[in-house]
Amino acid sequence: MAAKPPSKPRSKTSRSSAKPATWSGRFNEAVSERVKRYTASVGFDQRLAMHDIRGSLAHARMLRASGILTGADLKRIETGLATIAREIAAGKFKWSLDAEDVHLNIERRLTALVGDAGKRLHTARSRNDQVATDVRLWLRDEIDDLSALLAALQSSLIGQAELHADTIMPGFTHLQVAQPVTFGHHMLAYVEMFERDRTRLADCRERMNVLPLGSAALAGTSFPIKRELVARELGFRAVSANSLDAVSDRDFAIEFCSAASIIMVHISRLCEELVLWVNPRFAFIVLPDRFCTGSSIMPQKKNPDVPELARGKTGRVFGHLTALLTLMKAQPLAYNKDNQEDKEPLFDTVDTLRDTLAIFAEMMAGLKVNKAAMRNAALQGFATATDLADYLVKKGLPFRDAHEAVARAVRHAETAGVDLADLSLADLRQFSPLIASDVRKVLTLEGSAAARKHVGGTAPAQVRSAAKAARRRLAR
Ligand code: ARG
Repeated sequence: MAAKPPSKPRSKTSRSSAKPATWSGRFNEAVSERVKRYTASVGFDQRLAMHDIRGSLAHARMLRASGILTGADLKRIETGLATIAREIAAGKFKWSLDAEDVHLNIERRLTALVGDAGKRLHTARSRNDQVATDVRLWLRDEIDDLSALLAALQSSLIGQAELHADTIMPGFTHLQVAQPVTFGHHMLAYVEMFERDRTRLADCRERMNVLPLGSAALAGTSFPIKRELVARELGFRAVSANSLDAVSDRDFAIEFCSAASIIMVHISRLCEELVLWVNPRFAFIVLPDRFCTGSSIMPQKKNPDVPELARGKTGRVFGHLTALLTLMKAQPLAYNKDNQEDKEPLFDTVDTLRDTLAIFAEMMAGLKVNKAAMRNAALQGFATATDLADYLVKKGLPFRDAHEAVARAVRHAETAGVDLADLSLADLRQFSPLIASDVRKVLTLEGSAAARKHVGGTAPAQVRSAAKAARRRLAR
């Protein structure tokens, strides 16, 4: 048997034909294939590529302006990065696991394209401040898109409110018929929820919009950098005030997933109502067929799959929020590799939200209302009992006594199997002599709704003006 050759320090080609890792200089052996796969993020963080390039361009221009790079090197870097952007956009860029993540993949390709200038790009920078910058740049754009989708959904809901400002339906408490409301009013309730959601996203964007670049690995850099220049070029409102915080902070990701979770809470509430309303026992609405599916065994079925699935996806977004909170809990300063795990929950939250909001904007615009079914349901359950009590109060009876008198009238009607409006005047007067013939309009569903005409009330006139105000707010 031939003698073993003396072991070489670290063969750059011994284990695979792949290039050694960018940081491999101090190591004696290459990482195993399994560890390489385990630690690499390129499989998912390549979605940051365009924002990584934007950040690198701003960084390179700043290096030039600070006299750290020559004009010729900057030119080469700009040309090289433009080529890479084109390759990525065309799907021709070769992502390599050996280069670990999006940052090193792009840097390696840049160096292959333009030589030493590419190797100079990383001066005064670390992947730690680079990735913190990239994720913020990316999420900022996503927040803008999601806000627009929320606005589109609000617009669909306002459209239904305008169409159904007069459409009576039962309002529920405890899922029992409570008082008549209009369907338009019900739709506008969701418009308010999504409005708060939009402001939450805007808050998150504002707090997040601070530049980490310049923090380098954790302590800052010895180069005379001009951070404000980079901030201005990238549209950040300020530069971060502490390098340790800037490279390790992921609050913005947690805040975003928290805002996203609240959006999904609202979506899931709407889902639950849609599932009830399409059920033939309610039959309040019809969802367009393109949002429903059939059963493979029961030919009669039309299932509200989209609302059910969105209700289910709510759980996955909550899960991502919990994952991020747990990820950051007890991490010592500053950057730790743990942080690489921020991306998949964040990405999936954005994807889930984008699809859900886009589908709901379309579905809510296409929903058809069965006015007769809604009205019939409101006629059951003594929805105008409160109106009768209010009527007695207006005639001078203390509210508690009025409540008692009407409760007895309801019990009587229930035993007789009729609605309050079906009782004769004589019948009604058994419960209070204050009741006169003017009680009739109080007992109708339309009279009840129309009476609630203050700001925030369900009266059709009020719903129309609330819808108008909501439209104006969207246009701002
Ligand atoms: N891929 C890494 C991440 O997503 C980039 C930062 C790596 N920094 C480091 N020191 N290993 O977090």
